[in-house]
Amino acid sequence: MSYRLILIGPPGVGKGTQSALLTERLGLKALSSGDIFRREIEAETDLGRLAKRYIQHGELVPNGVTIEMMAKRLRDDDTRKHGFVLDGFPRTVRQAEALDEILFEMEFGLDKVISIEVPEETILHRLAGRMGCTKCGEIYHSRNKPPMREGLCDKCNGPLFVRTDDQPGTILERLRVFRETTAPVIDYYASTGSLLRVDGSVGPEDTYRQIIEAMPR
Ligand code: AP5
Ligand code: MG
Repeated sequence: MSYRLILIGPPGVGKGTQSALLTERLGLKALSSGDIFRREIEAETDLGRLAKRYIQHGELVPNGVTIEMMAKRLRDDDTRKHGFVLDGFPRTVRQAEALDEILFEMEFGLDKVISIEVPEETILHRLAGRMGCTKCGEIYHSRNKPPMREGLCDKCNGPLFVRTDDQPGTILERLRVFRETTAPVIDYYASTGSLLRVDGSVGPEDTYRQIIEAMPR
């Protein structure tokens, strides 16, 4: 089945973890704005240099460049053919309106906007122990999902890293930005009838099951 999905929720709630399960199992294309920015930073592009100035302080990258970057990827042939999981976009009401325009022009609808919800203390614990693979992007956690060999990815052997925005002060700023700027996007979609709220405080597989059971067949 080809679906068009959005994952929305605060930092560390498990968007990337669910996106990996959905793309692996359903063959959808993953579109994570945060991952795309991190690749641009790594490649030291102009966009990467601009994005870094905001990301390192836990602030949002300006709407204009973010919308342009995501519009290009949404119009990709793979996205048309296989469907997609948007992770981290849209994050402002302006971005949600721009996405509506892009999808309208492509004659695409959205199947579900999935809001993942967990208590804030769980988020702090999850982000404090997170590690990611530098090569394939697989996500680990020191306690919840430790790698088999310390510092190395189980899937591809790549070295693991800790994100620079996973520092305590930056995490609190990211949570504040979520509450002020991104939470209204959830209300925006609640009014369209496509919103699905899932409990993300259970394990990754139980969270995934809630999503799959609510999918249109
Ligand atoms: P982004 O990369 O999107 O970060 P985020 O939204 O802060 O979310 P995270 O990636 O930190 O968390 P996640 O929800 O993916 O959780 P994960 O699955 O890793 O954005 C980074 C920055 O880029 C932003 O701050 C902003 O500056 C910029 N940016 C991005 N998009 C933008 C946009 N649209 N506009 C403007 N700026 C933008 O899980 C976390 C940990 O918990 C892991 O260790 C995992 O193993 C564990 N875990 C996950 N699920 C479970 C579970 N169910 N049970 C137990 N443990 C779990
Ligand atoms: Mg993520």
